[in-house]
Amino acid sequence: MKPDDELRNAAFAAMENAYAPYSRFRVGAAIRTSSGEIVSGCNVENAVYGEALCAERVAVSAAVARGLREFEEIAIASESDDPAPPCGSCRQTMSEFAPELKVTGYSKNGKKVEWKLSDLLPEAFALNHLRGKE
Ligand code: THU
Repeated sequence: MKPDDELRNAAFAAMENAYAPYSRFRVGAAIRTSSGEIVSGCNVENAVYGEALCAERVAVSAAVARGLREFEEIAIASESDDPAPPCGSCRQTMSEFAPELKVTGYSKNGKKVEWKLSDLLPEAFALNHLRGKE
C-alpha cells in the first residue's frame, strides 16, 4: 500500500472511534513520524461542551507521549462534504513540532486537499519569541 493511502486509512479508522455524540461530527487524524510510525487520534467530546478534544491534538499528544516529536505529515478524515482544515488551536499545536508539516484533509466522499501548515498558520508564535524577550 502507498504511504499516503496507509495514512489516509489510519485517519479514517481513527474516525470510527470518535466520541462525538454532541456535534455528531466525527474526525480522525493520523500522523506519520520521521521514523515512519503512524500515530492516530480522534475527537473526544464531553457533556461540558468546551472540554472537547480535537482529533489532531489527540494524535499529536499520543505521539509525544510515545517519545515521537518529528512529524512528516498528518492526514485528517471527516464526514464533511469538503475536507475539513484543522482548527486554529490544532494549527498552533502542530506548529510547535512541525511548522512545515504537510496537512492532508480527506472527506468520506473521496475528496482530498493538501495544505502546508505554514500557509495555514503564518507568523506562528514559537519558542524563539519567548526566548527573544531576554
Ligand atoms: N474537530 C476536530 O476534531 N478537529 C478540528 O480541527 C475541528 C473540529 C472536532 C471538535 C468537535 O468534537 C467537533 O469536531 C465539532 O467541532
